[in-house]
Amino acid sequence: MPRPSGLSPRLAHQPFHRAVASTAWWRHAVIYQVYPRSWSDADGDGHGDLPGIIARMPYLADLGVDALWLSPFYVSPQHDAGYDVADYRDVDPLFGTLADADALIARAHELGLRVLIDLVPNHTSSEHAWFREAVGAPPGSEARARYLFRDGRGPGGARPPNNWRSVFGGEAWSRLDDGQWYLHLFDATQPDLDWTNPQVRAEFEDILRFWLDRGVDGFRVDVAHGLVKAPGLPDWGAEQEMLSPAGEGVETTHPPMWDQEGVHDIYRSWRRVTSNYDLDTTPDTPDAPGAERILVAEAWVDPVERAARYVRPDEMHQAFNFAYLTAAWTASALRAVIVESLRANDAVGAPTTWVLSNHDVVRHATRLGLPGAGEGGRNPHGVGAGDPQPDTALGLIRARAATALMLALPGAAYLYQGEELGLPEHTTLPDDKRQDPTYVRSAHAELGRDGCRIPIPWEPTGPALGFNQTGRLWLPQPASYAALAVDAQRGVEGSTLELYRRLLRLRRDVALGRASLAWLEGYGPDVVALRSESARGPVAILTNLGAQPVGLPEGELLAASGPLDAGPPGTPRLPVDTTAWVALSM
Ligand code: BGC
Repeated sequence: MPRPSGLSPRLAHQPFHRAVASTAWWRHAVIYQVYPRSWSDADGDGHGDLPGIIARMPYLADLGVDALWLSPFYVSPQHDAGYDVADYRDVDPLFGTLADADALIARAHELGLRVLIDLVPNHTSSEHAWFREAVGAPPGSEARARYLFRDGRGPGGARPPNNWRSVFGGEAWSRLDDGQWYLHLFDATQPDLDWTNPQVRAEFEDILRFWLDRGVDGFRVDVAHGLVKAPGLPDWGAEQEMLSPAGEGVETTHPPMWDQEGVHDIYRSWRRVTSNYDLDTTPDTPDAPGAERILVAEAWVDPVERAARYVRPDEMHQAFNFAYLTAAWTASALRAVIVESLRANDAVGAPTTWVLSNHDVVRHATRLGLPGAGEGGRNPHGVGAGDPQPDTALGLIRARAATALMLALPGAAYLYQGEELGLPEHTTLPDDKRQDPTYVRSAHAELGRDGCRIPIPWEPTGPALGFNQTGRLWLPQPASYAALAVDAQRGVEGSTLELYRRLLRLRRDVALGRASLAWLEGYGPDVVALRSESARGPVAILTNLGAQPVGLPEGELLAASGPLDAGPPGTPRLPVDTTAWVALSM
């Protein structure tokens, strides 16, 4: 039997995470990722923009998140959707103006929301003034020393300097007409900077100050594990992905392009920069916007202890927990990642930062409905019409359960735009619409990330489903998005949007993000069963990943990710693939 009889509120429990006595906002914040191209389009050109975000921002305050993180809106030729920055101190006309960015920050603060922006320090665009200067300058010049230019190997230097591969496919080197090669871990239009060069370090500290002076509350740091490369740029034998792998002898087999010791020194100096702005804190209102500016690591490193090194006390504040995002949909995998993540981050005094979806991965409402979701493993790089299609209904049920579990965990959490609507990936996007450079660079072997970047449906009918008023779209919306539009879900009991609103409100009221955590015993191997010692009393968090419904403990049902199973009179049960929060009777 999944649930032993006679369970009482005093179920045995084993504590494994102790709450930190701190009110710092970022330790328990829920942060909503806005992907500006696809959220709201005020000028109707088919791409979202900053005025569109400003207009819709009350929606985020109403949803109940604490902050928003904006993917890049800087001047860019858009070869990698803005992660190829040509000018870090200005806004691309596609998205608006610098005045719009100022207005956006001001409006967010008025609504009590903090604003994080994306910083892309591993590489610039090939159209950045520095790279243009480098191309026009001779080998060995100061201008080239800001990037990783090298002579090639073999006769005439015709072969690249080493065997590294681009994360997007193909070689990680391109050659200029004068014969020198430059490194790009991503697209050829994204040359890697040389972070051993003091000019590079000074420039980025200045960019941080530029935006801190404009009032941003922090930075999500792109490819935070990639800035420093091993000296000599040695060959790397294994297949190249963005993840720095764990394993036996990890120190000796460490990929020379990822997770090098030198990156930590950079983040220590950045922490000193942001800390200077913390002096603005008003003692009476330590939680007011602007109280503490933060750094968030996008570091695809394994195991979780390596990621925790980015959030040591003098480095960054948060690091995305990608181990949770990629975990298999099984109770044992989820239990393992929860306990290991909290243990690793607790050891350095940092919060754990949970996440299930973002603009680089298949949306979790689809991922969890794909065959093999229970086996986990690597996240697929896109799903296309020729691939096995997800079970959409199952994916959504599981996605709601996964989110309800995530939002009950202590620490911070990130939501990706549209997940609050239960949006699936666009899994039948026509190939001729694909824009992700991965698709081309991998010679179509990988479909890329367009399927999770589709413009948001705000209204169930009308041009572009309310994304704009013209019907123009940089990526087409699938037919299924109409029924999932914001206006089709707002105020509708049981809708995914209302579930998110409820979970976010309760999480805040009950202070689950600041709670201690224990395992709740007696539920057997197929249930993730937790007891959260919130400041308002104990709350049981149960996710059923077994094959049959299980009983709920005595107490008040606060929330459930789906309908409960009626069971015997008065004793509703928790169905498979469902999460419930129950305030335990004292
Ligand atoms: C971003 C991606 C981007 C890459 C290169 C990342 O990890 O999230 O969207 O393509 O860095 O900047």
